[in-house]
Amino acid sequence: MLDVTFAKPALPKAGALALLIPEGEEPSGLWAQADEATGGAISRAFTVAEFKGGKGKTCSILAPGAGLTRVLAVGLGKSAELNRRTLEEAGGAIASGLTREAAVAVAADSVTGAQAAEVASGALLRAYRFDRYRTKEKPEDKPKLAKLALLTAELPKAKAAWEPLAAIARGVYLTRDFVSEPANVLSPAEMADRCRKLAELGIKVEILGPKEMSKLRFGALLGVSQGSANEPRMVVMQWNGASGNSRRAKEKPVCFIGKGVTFDTGGISIKPAGGMEDMKWDMAGAGTVAGLMAALAGRKAKVDAVGLIGLVENMPSGTAQRPGDVVTSYSGQTIEVINTDAEGRLVLADVMWYAQQKFDPKFMVDLATLTGAIIIGLGHEYAGMFSNDDTLAQRLSDTGRETGERVWRMPLDEAYDKQIRSDIADMKNVGGRPGGSITAAQFLQRFVSNNRPWAHLDIAGMAWSSKDAPVTPKGATAFGVRLLDRLVADHYES
Ligand code: BES
Ligand code: MN
Ligand code: ZN
Repeated sequence: MLDVTFAKPALPKAGALALLIPEGEEPSGLWAQADEATGGAISRAFTVAEFKGGKGKTCSILAPGAGLTRVLAVGLGKSAELNRRTLEEAGGAIASGLTREAAVAVAADSVTGAQAAEVASGALLRAYRFDRYRTKEKPEDKPKLAKLALLTAELPKAKAAWEPLAAIARGVYLTRDFVSEPANVLSPAEMADRCRKLAELGIKVEILGPKEMSKLRFGALLGVSQGSANEPRMVVMQWNGASGNSRRAKEKPVCFIGKGVTFDTGGISIKPAGGMEDMKWDMAGAGTVAGLMAALAGRKAKVDAVGLIGLVENMPSGTAQRPGDVVTSYSGQTIEVINTDAEGRLVLADVMWYAQQKFDPKFMVDLATLTGAIIIGLGHEYAGMFSNDDTLAQRLSDTGRETGERVWRMPLDEAYDKQIRSDIADMKNVGGRPGGSITAAQFLQRFVSNNRPWAHLDIAGMAWSSKDAPVTPKGATAFGVRLLDRLVADHYES
């Protein structure tokens, strides 16, 4: 992991330097010093490149003199419009633009200490790489960047702001590692075991296996898992950052639930071969919940939070469930399984019901790579959000805009219920092609009791990215960790 440090502003005598340039302002501080030390090379490069510090613009200068190997100037846009997202993205541009240097100093004297920490956060998020299985990569092809030093006069403020941001980034890294792992390595049992390590952060971790879940009568979840040689697990993670160990006067916890299908072949309703390898990330919802819990505990959030993940593998085999099977969910409601590929909702049904029975949460947010239809509707820019609660929905939308992990509200409506009516059970698990993401959400809503505030995030289009983005390299995104961490920070901490 990129090593981030903070130091007093002083022009480095050698190596790489990143400059944060506010749009349309005169050189000052380290920027002016670097320009002077290089005999005006930086100003000349800016003129030739027509670089004025516009947001998202960069200017790269090689060997400008004064011992500097590279200078990368990153535009911050107009000072009056500067926000967290721009600062993070500037950090991301530094991490992606200076990969050939082992150590980089960032002249962060033009921003506050807290803002310097946000730049560092963006750099760390962008510097993520999953290279556990590359054994033959040439050293010259590997990114070298290992140390980032932020030069700021506001050292204590920067360091204080950095602590929670580093914890959040560690949560994001954990999620990305989970999602990137192939399914032969990351079975339900393996993922549960890795979650056990979260106990080191003060999280109470409980793991339920097939015996415990049979006893509880998790018929919907177990039906999905019965075709696989890999046993299912449910992991329950509790972070009591508000109440600590005291049992009295406890407020209801907030609750996050993740779909954790470690591989989705579709089961007997098997998927086509092309692109099936992508279904190793059908546990991204669960990965996000684990990373979120790590982030909350890592920054000692003053909140009581529970995270629950349902872990199964959806396989076709002689023991697999068949189309037409009827299962009885933990809630007692029966489900006719028309299509074994609509398995995520079956897993969530039991975990959601358990969450409410056991914890009586203030609200529930579930995350799931639930439907291909949400990708048709929203593409790869917004996650689909379904909610029975306007306040929760509004908060999620607003927080999405701030963090860049955006969600778009979709409808819930009884009118869709006719599509999931069954002739022999309480409901069927698919509603046909029209509004496929909505009927999936309507299905889930049947496992929300007493109108409890609930939001469902369909992250099928967001969990994985085929191209680099400002603070997210290509691959596993960890979508939802920063969104939900901020939701908690802004609205639910005491
Ligand atoms: N995990 C898939 C959804 C998915 C598809 C995520 C493509 C990412 C990319 C889910 O379990 C699934 O198979 N859904 C079906 C539902 C259908 C059978 C009603 C789908 O979307 O095709
Ligand atoms: Mn499926
Ligand atoms: Zn699935």
